[in-house]
Amino acid sequence: MKISYHGHSVVQIQTNGKTILIDPFITGNSLTDLKADEVKADVIILTHGHNDHVGDTVEIAKRNDALVVGNADLTTFLSWQGVKTHGMNIGGAYQFDFGKIKFTQAFHGSAFATNNNEIVYCGMPTGVLFSNEGKTIYHAGDTGLFSDMKLIGDRNQIDVAFLPIGDNFTMGPEDAAYAAKLLQAKTVVPIHYNTFPPIKQDPYRFTELLVDKNGKVLNPGEFIEI
Ligand code: NI
Ligand code: MN
Repeated sequence: MKISYHGHSVVQIQTNGKTILIDPFITGNSLTDLKADEVKADVIILTHGHNDHVGDTVEIAKRNDALVVGNADLTTFLSWQGVKTHGMNIGGAYQFDFGKIKFTQAFHGSAFATNNNEIVYCGMPTGVLFSNEGKTIYHAGDTGLFSDMKLIGDRNQIDVAFLPIGDNFTMGPEDAAYAAKLLQAKTVVPIHYNTFPPIKQDPYRFTELLVDKNGKVLNPGEFIEI
């Protein structure tokens, strides 16, 4: 399984010939190396309805005939825009032909802001556990620190955890380092930093805070293979 990072919260997973994109915010993402009109995806997984996570989902999904998986309120909203969806919700898992997805809780918001200055309720924010080929990836979405991350760590053998470190909207480096301890992931990759001024962080300061020294900073376009 090949897992690459593309700035902000954009993560791409390649497994068994399928390409899965998480939170494909490309247009307006000054850090990404991807191009919205070129990126390939068979599946798009969304953690919540905020514009910096839904991003280019509708365009990418339509061009690739990709399946969009997210919480059911968000996928209902997106299905009205003509994309194929599979709605789920927190605590539920589903075995797809490309892997297993389970949504976890996240403490955050999840509204989509339209071009008409309207807020569309998109359900609860989530984190996501993705498993295939005997490996499990946890993408925390946007969230503050919560003690049930220990439960997520106890119930799942996490190979790679993607944790927000930007502060202001999500956990900052100290809380994310504490989260890493609760999750007991083999490798921890920082996300959701440096895209906007309020979330400016040094990812290497975060990896130094990790007691297990299991952090891995991925620059946009870099990948790990597990
Ligand atoms: Ni958000
Ligand atoms: Mn965000």
